[in-house]
Amino acid sequence: MDNRINSNSKNHLIIGGVDATELVKQYQTPLYVMDESAIRHKCQMLIKRFKHPQVNTEVIYAAKAFLTLQMAKLINEEGLSMDVVSGGELYTAIKGEFPPSRIYFHGNNKSHEEIEMAIQNHVGTIVCDNGDEVTRLLKHSWDGRLRIMLRINPGIEAHTHEYIKTTTHDSKFGLSIYDPKTMDLIKTIHDNPRLDFVGFHTHIGSQIFESESFMELARTVLSYIQALKIKHGILTKEMNLGGGFGVRYTQEDTPFSLADFFPKLLNLIVEESKRLNVDIPKVLIEPGRSIVAEAGYTLYTISGTKETFGGKRFVFIDGSMADHIRTALYQATYEAVIANDLKRPLSQDYTVTGKACESGDIIIKNIKLPKPLEGDILAVLSTGAYHYSMSSNYNRLLKPAVIFVSGGKSRVVVQRESYDDLLRHDV
Ligand code: LLP
Repeated sequence: MDNRINSNSKNHLIIGGVDATELVKQYQTPLYVMDESAIRHKCQMLIKRFKHPQVNTEVIYAAKAFLTLQMAKLINEEGLSMDVVSGGELYTAIKGEFPPSRIYFHGNNKSHEEIEMAIQNHVGTIVCDNGDEVTRLLKHSWDGRLRIMLRINPGIEAHTHEYIKTTTHDSKFGLSIYDPKTMDLIKTIHDNPRLDFVGFHTHIGSQIFESESFMELARTVLSYIQALKIKHGILTKEMNLGGGFGVRYTQEDTPFSLADFFPKLLNLIVEESKRLNVDIPKVLIEPGRSIVAEAGYTLYTISGTKETFGGKRFVFIDGSMADHIRTALYQATYEAVIANDLKRPLSQDYTVTGKACESGDIIIKNIKLPKPLEGDILAVLSTGAYHYSMSSNYNRLLKPAVIFVSGGKSRVVVQRESYDDLLRHDV
């Protein structure tokens, strides 16, 4: 049973109580559809389960996965905080009336303009990436003390089903905990009366299916907190364990249950803190993908098929890698259904491709589909994260509209682009 696929008596795909074919009639294709209630349920589950009687906790939404004004509003209503990584994300959050005190400003290369924008808007926390950035930050002025976290690289890299503990630290993000200069910088930040050093930020990867990676991360950061206490007498108040929780793109993906995992993680943090004789820090997490990915669908219209001389079968859709880059960029895998006929029997393997002038313009490689007919609606599943946010105008293709659906109702949250939009900045 796939909870992403619901149908009505006509065997049409239903998203948020709305018939996908009706959405297509109303808004055309290609179309990004987000099940708003599914996003809200995810947020509520995170808030509810990421709790512990002895631990102060906070859930931050990593906005890079999907951000619009309405999404900023939704995240605020659900009581999560927000991670932004650029002036553009910050601007969207502010214009979406997201409370600045709950914004974490990330990024490994913040410009003076972005720093000033964060200060002017009273952003709650700046997550510093390196010493140069701290120096750059201190050239700005503000009243009182600025809350600072430092991004550290704990030497754990997690990919899908495994994590690697490395001692080679060549990530462009954060400072290695194995580099003695990192602790010197923490002392400098801590001793500066204009800065309020609250703790550490970490993020070990994305689409992680192995919960032990996060356990190992928590142990590693806590022992660093202990080392900092012993060396400099500095007490760490907060630790952000980042995002990266895996989601289901295809049946092969087996995400672990966050609801079951969080109590174990928080228990481990309590026990480890006691064992290491450090104060139990406030614990933050920062998921993006796991909040929105499975709530998203991209609807396309099938225009036809083509069988090559070599025997490869293509299905052509009216979108492209410009609205779906993850397959080309990461060889990501997806599933799709014929939204106007969920009962049509599977026939053979097809590669779903779009309109872009690139052989790499692949949406799904080799997927078994029912025989596709012209005018069918193809719904690609789990496209809620990093699709709209990574879309482009390659080939001067127009970006699709984004629709929120919930309780049988739909609304536009981002309008479809027009040709005039394309020319807006041309001179
Ligand atoms: N926090 C930090 C500091 C991050 O860098 C990221 C993702 C997250 C949180 C959220 O990670 P999530 O829970 O979404 O996995 N474009 C790629 C993903 C890049 C993620 C970068 N950082 C993709 O489409 O898979």
